[in-house]
Order: sequence, then structure tokens, then C-alpha cells
Amino acid sequence: MKIIARAHTNIALIKYWGKADSSLKIPLMSSISMTLDAFYTETEFTHNVDLANDMVIMNGKAVNDQASYRIINYVKKLQDIYGFNDHFCIKTENHVPTAAGLASSASGFAALATSFAASYNLNLNRQELSRIARLGSGSATRSIFGGFVEWQKGYDDQTSFAFPINEHPQMDLTMLAVELDVSQKDISSTCGMKIAQTSPFYQTWLNRNKQEISEMESAIKNNNFTRLGELSELSANEMHSLNLTAMQSFSYFQPTTITIMNLVRNLRKNGIECYYTIDAGPNVKILCQDKSVEDICKAIHNTLDSVKIIKSKFGPGVQIINCDD
Ligand code: PMV
Repeated sequence: MKIIARAHTNIALIKYWGKADSSLKIPLMSSISMTLDAFYTETEFTHNVDLANDMVIMNGKAVNDQASYRIINYVKKLQDIYGFNDHFCIKTENHVPTAAGLASSASGFAALATSFAASYNLNLNRQELSRIARLGSGSATRSIFGGFVEWQKGYDDQTSFAFPINEHPQMDLTMLAVELDVSQKDISSTCGMKIAQTSPFYQTWLNRNKQEISEMESAIKNNNFTRLGELSELSANEMHSLNLTAMQSFSYFQPTTITIMNLVRNLRKNGIECYYTIDAGPNVKILCQDKSVEDICKAIHNTLDSVKIIKSKFGPGVQIINCDD
């Protein structure tokens, strides 16, 4: 039977940047994200005692590299938990253009967790799917749900999972992903998080988390785009300040990252309301309302003429899209 799961990626508005347990990927803080409609992964998982080997096929090509080892090890971990040990084949198609500068690990592991569970008939609810997606990649925890999603940090494997704040938000919110640099980042998020914990401001960042989460929850409930934007930009600035102030100081920013950050601030001064957020890479994502999209794109192209801009709105939670042979 063919089991294909589709999961959309997400952008964190209140960032996750630090693990309490690296093997279980229990975070040190709660986070809030927006699931994105423009970017998703589709994964088909099959298992069979007759298969000679475990296989990963990405975008039509069999792969045998670091990324495929991570995927295979993840599935073996799940098989250990649920008591299976047959060989498997994973076929995965990524619809997350590199140009977006968004990691495909969030949608990738959410889709894989879901197709794994469906293929073994595990009957997991979405909270359980969120927990097992977390074992693949922290941000995948949130991609099980659509709209606005919160990942409560919890304190162990059972208590760390995401839940939807609002799966069908009415907020007028668009995210513009600005492609600045698509080369592979030198410092992985796992590594960056570890280094950031040596910042003298790290404890302050943790102390602020509860307040930031509750303010973001209110902004979402009250449909307050301005407050949502301010809090998102602040959380990104805080995360990147930790990197700059770590013992081995580092930054994901490129000169063009700063150019776009300044451009967003200038647009705001000129009455075009928009905010930026940045993950573990140089690309900038801009949060804005429908009416400003055109002006913002024009301003970006006036400054950096050839950059690609990809527009996204709210995406849905994970779904099984095809069960036929
Ligand atoms: O789950 P990871 O290892 O891809 O880490 C995600 C880290 C950030 O994207 C920077 C923040 C987040 O909450 O998604």
C-alpha cells in the first residue's frame, strides 16, 4: 500500500535556539511558528522484510550521503521504539526551493514521521506525531500542525510536543522569503545552538521566554499584526545577538542580510509596515500585510536587483494525500 504524507515547513516567530537534551531534542525554550503554504515535502515510506537494504530516494535519486544517514538513523530509532526491524525505502520529494533559504528538515521529518506511523498502522494522534517528528529535527515538531503553532518545551520525551494555537488564522499575514545566499551554511543549527549557550546573555534569553510566548499568544488571539511583527523581529535579534556574544563569536549574517534588515527598518519609517526574521542562515524573511507586498518587493529590487523573493501564506498541517497503489 502506498502511503504518502505531505508536510509544510514553518518559520519560527519566537525562536527555538538551544537544547536541554540533544539526543531527544528537548528544547530549553518554547517556540511559536507560522506554517507556510509555499513550501512542503512529500514522503512515501514502505517497509518489507524482502528488501535487501534500507534506501533513501530524494527527488528521484537514490542517495547515500550524510543526509541519508541521518534519515536512516532516525527511522531505526523509531523502529526501536515501536518494535520493528524490517528494511525500508523512503521516497521523498522536496518542494522547498533552496532559493527560499528555508530548511527542509522541518517539513521533511514531519512528513517522514507521519508516513512511518501510517505505514506501520500505529494510529498515532497528532500530538504523538509531533513528539516523534521532534526526534528527527526540533523544528519538525511544529510542522505537524497548520497556521500558528506552539511547541511547548516540556521536560522529557512525553511532554515536549507542539499544539495548534489557531489552524485557520484570519490574520492578514504574508511572509516574503528573500534569497540572498543559497550556499550550504558552515555552522549547522545544532552546532550554532551549542556555541550560543556560552553567551553571557543566554540565561537572560531563557528567562524572557515565558513572557515572549505569552505576548505572542495574545498578539495572535487579538489579530494584532503590529505586535506579532515586533515580537518576531525582537526574537530573531535576540537569537542572533547570542551568536555574536558567544565565547566563539559567530554570525550567520552576510553584508546583504544587513542591507535587507536596514531596508525593512527604513520602509517602516516611511509608513510601510513590515518586520524581518532570520533563521540559521543569511536569508531574510519579511512579515507584512497584503497591501505592502508590491512596495516591499520594489524596494528590495531597487537595492539588490536580481534577488528572488518567494511569497508564502499560512499552510496546513500534515496530511496523508494518497493511499492507493
Ligand atoms: O530544528 P532545527 O535543528 O532545524 O533548528 C531550528 C532553528 C531555527 O530555525 C533557527 C529556529 C526555529 O525555531 O525553527
